[in-house]
Amino acid sequence: MRDRNSQCVVIVGSQWGDEGKGKIVDVLADQVDVVARYQGGSNAGHTVHVGSEEFILHQIPSGILHPRRRCLLGNGVVFDPFQFFQELDALTARGIDAEGRVGVSGRAHLLLSYHKTWDRAQEASRGSGKIGTTGRGIGPAYEDKVARQGIRLADLRDRARAEEQLRRAAARVNQRLELLDTDERVDADALVDELMSIRDRLLAISVDTGRVIHDALKAGQRVLLEGAQGALLDVDHGTYPYVTSSNTTAGGAALGVGIGPTRVDDVIGVVKAYTTRVGEGPLPTEFMDELQERVRTLGGEYGATTGRPRRCGWFDSVVVRYAARVNGLTGLAVTKLDVLDTLDELQIAVSYRAEGEELDDFPGDLGLLATAEPVYETLPGWKTSTADARRWEDLPENARRYLDRLSELTETPIWYVSVGTRRDQIIHVER
Ligand code: IMP
Ligand code: MG
Repeated sequence: MRDRNSQCVVIVGSQWGDEGKGKIVDVLADQVDVVARYQGGSNAGHTVHVGSEEFILHQIPSGILHPRRRCLLGNGVVFDPFQFFQELDALTARGIDAEGRVGVSGRAHLLLSYHKTWDRAQEASRGSGKIGTTGRGIGPAYEDKVARQGIRLADLRDRARAEEQLRRAAARVNQRLELLDTDERVDADALVDELMSIRDRLLAISVDTGRVIHDALKAGQRVLLEGAQGALLDVDHGTYPYVTSSNTTAGGAALGVGIGPTRVDDVIGVVKAYTTRVGEGPLPTEFMDELQERVRTLGGEYGATTGRPRRCGWFDSVVVRYAARVNGLTGLAVTKLDVLDTLDELQIAVSYRAEGEELDDFPGDLGLLATAEPVYETLPGWKTSTADARRWEDLPENARRYLDRLSELTETPIWYVSVGTRRDQIIHVER
């Protein structure tokens, strides 16, 4: 990793998700012993290219593609056991020995089929106020957790009690579904049978992630805490209510695996060299028609989980400066620089203008944000392929100027630059 003494590092998305965290985790996983996810669930979609193979992981940390790495899901994750085993079995089928290397916190809440049913029914009932969720049941699973009616992995130990919990949950969801315009109902017997059929396999992977990580750090090992989604989708710090239902920011990392915040040494913020967002909600620097199509095509900007086209826009330094502060970023990883290779010139939002005033910070008030017009700075493009650059000096001068300006505006040093999807297309910035 960057610093020899840096033992525990958080990787966090610092825009609206899809920044390329999977790729950065994959690059860094080489140097660590344990990779743990701390929040979210199978709404995440991490795409990793190894050789000519593409892997899309939703529930299992991307670190799994490195042999011998221990991969954990912390208590902060909402855990979809069927999705998890499906991914695990698919990895095994592709020759990756994964089963013995995974562990899931016994304190993690189970995300079951009725959460997905409820997610979709709720979203449909929102009409024009929809959030654009991934339909993976994330919001409802966190709702149950906070309402103290969730079922945790460890709860499966007591089979009779778990069965009772499941039946109560089914009845509760059915009661709510009746109030909505849907014929969907939860079949309690099927729910129980399905989950109990994998109970033993589940209990076998249950661990105390906080303890495992604590012991690893004590033994001098290195740990990577892998975030999903991005800072602007954080339930507290994001563009509420157009957010996911967890704390995606670095503060959630210690909490979501069960260690103290003093154990974290570095926080690396992953950002795209431009901006994307999938789903509803504000995106101040969103492109107009022609550029929208062009960048979406160049960047392959379609959701890894839902296939939805992503909305694209210019790099917004107001957003990333805010994310740098909220996350306490120590370094940046800038991804997909190569996507901008053919553009004549580039714009960077440096501030917003709203209600006759200049705003240099990201507002918490969505009404104010809706009226905000980005103030842009224009930089010349480099019109050269960056795909083969492996050192900072290999980059065209205008690309370096662009990156230097991003770093200055976000008040954060750039540690990594990614110039393509492949594992080797990465620059470790040594300055
Ligand atoms: P949910 O997490 O499925 O509840 O979706 C809430 C919002 O977060 C929606 O706008 C989703 O598009 C967005 N979202 C959730 N997961 C991801 C992700 O991994 N990448 C990008 N956006 C995401
Ligand atoms: Mg993604």
